[in-house]
Amino acid sequence: MKLNTVLSGAIIALGIAAVSTAQADITLRHALTGEVLDLSFAKKGGNTEQFKQFLQTGKNPYNGNTEAAKKGESLYMTGCSGCHGHEAEGKLGPGLADDYWTYPRGLTDPGLFEILFGGAQGMMGPQYVNFSNDDMLHIMAFLRSIYKGDPKKAEWLK
Ligand code: HEC
Repeated sequence: MKLNTVLSGAIIALGIAAVSTAQADITLRHALTGEVLDLSFAKKGGNTEQFKQFLQTGKNPYNGNTEAAKKGESLYMTGCSGCHGHEAEGKLGPGLADDYWTYPRGLTDPGLFEILFGGAQGMMGPQYVNFSNDDMLHIMAFLRSIYKGDPKKAEWLK
């Protein structure tokens, strides 16, 4: 093998390594189709340190943070409460503070994010249209903060 072939091979390998370290550790999939979510659709401004951390760990860094839950609550009131109720008790869409889930993945943080980002059936459209990824983590922290279901089912705490 010629030296430049070896060198370009090494450069390609380095490039692949660089790309894969920049990639997330968790894979996010659409709740209905199972396709990998295309995060390039995300609204600008949401690629915060906290969101990057979420992609690495699968844990929402805003959980348990009162300030973040408060911000999430006001976002929820603008974009979700009309369909899910002011206390997430359910209305046109299902309740989000109990432990019954149409999509059981909602009991994990990546699963809940998947439903928000990619949407589900009918009126539950993809929320990336209205909210940045970081906004969605805030809304999720709010929903976890008002959870009234069985604590044993709270997968996101495990
Ligand atoms: C226009 C009405 C509408 C809006 C706005 C809306 N949803 Fe929904 N949502 C629905 C409907 C209807 C469903 C049921 C869809 C299904 O079963 O596939 C649903 C399903 C869900 C689910 C799955 C629940 C389960 O039991 O598995 C979650 C989570 C959810 N919505 C969160 C949100 C959040 C958070 C927002 C705001 C960012 C939001 N939705 C905005 C109508 C809406």
